Amino acid sequence: MDGSLADQRMSTHNAPSGSGSGPSNAAHRHVVTDNLTSLQTFILEEEARFPNASGEFSWIVSAISLAAKMIAYKVRHVRLQGGVGQQGDVNVQGEEQIKMDVIANEVIMRVLGSRKSIAVLGSEEEEQPAILRRGSEGGKYCVLFDPLDGSSNLDTAVGVGTIFTILRNDPHIPDAVKTVCQPGRQQVAAGYVLYGSSTVFVITTGHGVHMFELDMSVGSFLLVSRDLKMPRAKKVYSVNEAYTEGFPEGYQRYLKWAHAQGYSSRYIGSMVADIHRTLVNGGVFLYPPTKKHPDGKLRLLYEANPMSFLVEQAGGVSVNGSVRTMDIEPKALHERTPLVMGSADEVEHVLRHVRG
Ligand code: AHG
Ligand code: MN
Ligand code: MN
Repeated sequence: MDGSLADQRMSTHNAPSGSGSGPSNAAHRHVVTDNLTSLQTFILEEEARFPNASGEFSWIVSAISLAAKMIAYKVRHVRLQGGVGQQGDVNVQGEEQIKMDVIANEVIMRVLGSRKSIAVLGSEEEEQPAILRRGSEGGKYCVLFDPLDGSSNLDTAVGVGTIFTILRNDPHIPDAVKTVCQPGRQQVAAGYVLYGSSTVFVITTGHGVHMFELDMSVGSFLLVSRDLKMPRAKKVYSVNEAYTEGFPEGYQRYLKWAHAQGYSSRYIGSMVADIHRTLVNGGVFLYPPTKKHPDGKLRLLYEANPMSFLVEQAGGVSVNGSVRTMDIEPKALHERTPLVMGSADEVEHVLRHVRG
């Protein structure tokens, strides 16, 4: 820290929640207007806070941002790129792959695959995690990602996103699945890129949540919001309500209660877009167990955990209906979980009904 204005701001906003300066009913967003900081500069500054940092972490974030810029371009020209429509294959989840799922996955694999600091790469679109470097050759980190979340919305030009999480690599564990099956609380960093009406990059390294917007004229993600905090309460829920009759009774009771309380409903069907709105405006996002997906639909390691890390860092809460999402001990790369996340008070309203 060099005591600059930005640093002073950061320390002000890193005050623990509950101290009076934490999340409140009013949206607590710090919009940076007086200086320009790129994602790369920001991460280098963050790394400089740790005297022993090797710089490997910032290489990974820079690779993710390069992949994100390439995917952003392809998403913006998805028809011209021939990326709409089914690939004709089914991924390990038993879901139809959209061409763009495969293209985005390839971009990330190619860009991240060359970074020496990454030992293991895991993707929604790959059955097994890829071991890039073993043992003492191995890098310090593992990266898991959902290359394109909400891809079934591409043909209607709705926002889609890339989700990533960075975990520490343990070179003593030879099995790649065991290496990456870490509870979410151990994440080193997590984030997402939302290819919406603007392209935003949202990241946490465990010191708040920071948002960058892609400036196409210079090809950089520039800081637009430092230490974003979500409102404590907002009468909005986000859930696929068509499945209500298949939800456990507690969720049905919650929805009836929310209707009586005058809540609004917002559901895009792209988790990244739904959670981004929840993070910025407040509310609650739910994907409960359903008849079709009794364990929930969303994937624990590369969808639920990274989003939970961001939501908690923004002052919110994330649970699977009973326990903290980031305390679940994962057993498989593609494991699913039910999910309730968002503003602290809103999650509590859901849990009150779910607990009966
Ligand atoms: P993906 O496109 O990566 O397979 O994820 C789709 C997910 C998520 O984005 C969204 O929240 C959810 O599927 C929507 O599911 P429903 O259509 O069942 O509501
Ligand atoms: Mn997804
Ligand atoms: Mn996906």
